[in-house]
Amino acid sequence: MNRRQFFNQCAVHGDSRPDLQHSALIKNFLLPLFKLKKNQSVLDVGTGTGTLLPYLRAMTGKRASIVGLDFSPGMLERAREQYARPFTFVCAPAHDMPFSTASFDAVVSLDVFPHFQDKLAALNECRRVLKDGGKLIIAHTGSRGRINARLQKIGGPLASDTIPSDDVMMNLLLKAGFSKVKIRAKKNIHYSEAFKPRAGELPPGKPTAIRHVACAQCCHCGGCAGRLL
Ligand SMILES: C[S@@+](CC[C@H](N)C(=O)[O-])C[C@H]1O[C@@H](n2cnc3c(N)ncnc32)[C@H](O)[C@@H]1O
Repeated sequence: MNRRQFFNQCAVHGDSRPDLQHSALIKNFLLPLFKLKKNQSVLDVGTGTGTLLPYLRAMTGKRASIVGLDFSPGMLERAREQYARPFTFVCAPAHDMPFSTASFDAVVSLDVFPHFQDKLAALNECRRVLKDGGKLIIAHTGSRGRINARLQKIGGPLASDTIPSDDVMMNLLLKAGFSKVKIRAKKNIHYSEAFKPRAGELPPGKPTAIRHVACAQCCHCGGCAGRLL
């Protein structure tokens, strides 16, 4: 069974009741970091059953265009059942999305990054579909250790799926052409954000900082001049 088949099966057999702890993590810890603005166009990569969609709508307003993309038709069917109208759903893999270059103000992805087989290809594609200055958000509802352990326990096609170390994550984002990269590794969430550089901006490759809240140590990448952000 491959990942796509695995998630399709989850869509059929999965529990559709909202997990209160999961929702609380999203609301209290992740959404305040998103800082999306009214009327921004947003793409939710790996939207699954559409968990993030109502929150994205609340942040960006009624008129904003919000697209949920997933490679699992089963997941999208579940998302459509719950959130039909104001959203657009697209079935496609993250590394090959059917959107024009520079289509979105923001690309967000919740609890999906470990599953990208070719992470750099997926990030390159996210940068391509972002407008200049657009924001990429890669969020997880758990620490890196906890999520990686959970995936290993689930096993099957997900056994080797991981959130990479912060250094690897930073390098992947820079290699994909993002700038102003921030990584927040906390006890209960793992959050990365990065921007598609505007024309004429500094070339990509200037990291801002990795914020290790747990160990309170700077990554000494130089981007923050030794201070924690
Ligand atoms: C753990 S679920 C998270 C779903 C949703 N973001 C949430 O937080 O409830 C991961 C989702 O990512 C999708 N996915 C995994 N790899 C993908 C890829 N390469 N391209 C598109 N979707 C993918 C899966 O089908 C699944 O719906």
